[in-house]
Amino acid sequence: MPATVIIGTQWGDEGKGKIVDFLAEKADIVARYQGGDNAGHTVVVDGKEFRFHLVPSGAIRGKRAVLGNGMVINPSVLLEEIRRLQENGIEPDLLVSKKAHIIFPFHRELDSLKEKGKKEKIGTTKKGIGPAYTDKVARIGIRLGDLLEEGTLKAKLEFLVNIKDREAEIYGGQPTDFQKILEEYTFYGKQLKRYAGDCSAEINKALDDGKNVLIEGAQGTHLDIDHGTYPFVTSSNTIAGGACTGLGIGPTRIDDVGGVAKAYTTRVGAGAFPTELNNKIGEKIRENGGEYGTTTGRPRRCGWFDSVLVRYSCRINSLDWLALTKLDVLTGFKTVQVCVAYKDLTTGETTEDFPQTLEELGRHEPIYEELEGWTEKDLSDGISGNALKYVKRLEELCGIPIKLVGVGKSRKETLVL
Ligand code: IMP
Ligand code: MG
Repeated sequence: MPATVIIGTQWGDEGKGKIVDFLAEKADIVARYQGGDNAGHTVVVDGKEFRFHLVPSGAIRGKRAVLGNGMVINPSVLLEEIRRLQENGIEPDLLVSKKAHIIFPFHRELDSLKEKGKKEKIGTTKKGIGPAYTDKVARIGIRLGDLLEEGTLKAKLEFLVNIKDREAEIYGGQPTDFQKILEEYTFYGKQLKRYAGDCSAEINKALDDGKNVLIEGAQGTHLDIDHGTYPFVTSSNTIAGGACTGLGIGPTRIDDVGGVAKAYTTRVGAGAFPTELNNKIGEKIRENGGEYGTTTGRPRRCGWFDSVLVRYSCRINSLDWLALTKLDVLTGFKTVQVCVAYKDLTTGETTEDFPQTLEELGRHEPIYEELEGWTEKDLSDGISGNALKYVKRLEELCGIPIKLVGVGKSRKETLVL
């Protein structure tokens, strides 16, 4: 703090929500800068599980919650989350950027249709994220600000629907009922009007006033559109740099960047995964860790901790420190493996850097180091012995301090090292 960015260092689902929730206690504002309802955060408060897709997890603490211009927003999902918070006695203090792009039903439709037509499927969440960002970059997208202006929405939507209908035809989809969508989204505009504003002005002002701003990334570094395992990525900049463009703040405003890494690795959706375990060990990690997608319910692919992967994230995000989550999930294994480097199968050389292309990555295999396991069922009073040795070794391999360690689901099961 004052401005701290928290990002995922792997392929998402690192447990950012829990770490952000933990840090949010000292924050005045919690902000998101990219992605949409493809994300899913689970936070457990007093034994009660909260799931969010759009609203930053800090909202549970009653903090000012900002949805930045870099996000793509499905209004019906947002309104549903607001309703759920209200049902639990929390009136969210929200600001949604007028520049954030809006997801329409035809975006979701096209997401599914395009996936269906692909030989090598990405395994998207089918929430319309990619198609909405595509329209943004094509400069034909519709933003929250447009929903607030009836005439503007009608004109822009008419134009967009016309294009999308032709696209749908190519992929074998149905045309959009323009009038129905216009009415629905006009209604959403009215509902969201009270939250619409300027996230850049607000965050810059808050920082000028010495307030603490906690900025939360969604997905993970290796799903970044530029620096991830392209094309098996999401359509936004998930890395810390995205916070600047996605909220309208300059790089020098950011004081602290923390990365969240699971004590092992998971991935949901397709694409390379060097340390994946397609065996009983992988299954055991999945069961122990409850590794099923928050958004889609899909079983997550599981594997050992990959320090090559995380080291790359340390560099791309200029990380200051790491939070290691779900250490307790590895309890009970006789031994644990950590990937320390990759071996090039064609030349026999080893590298400690993550390869640039998927073809190069495919020519490498992980080199493991074996560490002794631990059996302590409850790590919430502190970690010692082999569990601590494991954490210390990861710290050494990643080259930055591990400041927080998650050892269980609840708020009090986050240890400060
Ligand atoms: P999209 O973001 O729905 O376009 O999906 C693109 C890829 O990112 C797919 O592999 C998804 O499984 C993955 N993905 C998107 N959001 C998340 C997330 O919040 N956690 C983990 N994976 C995600
Ligand atoms: Mg998630």
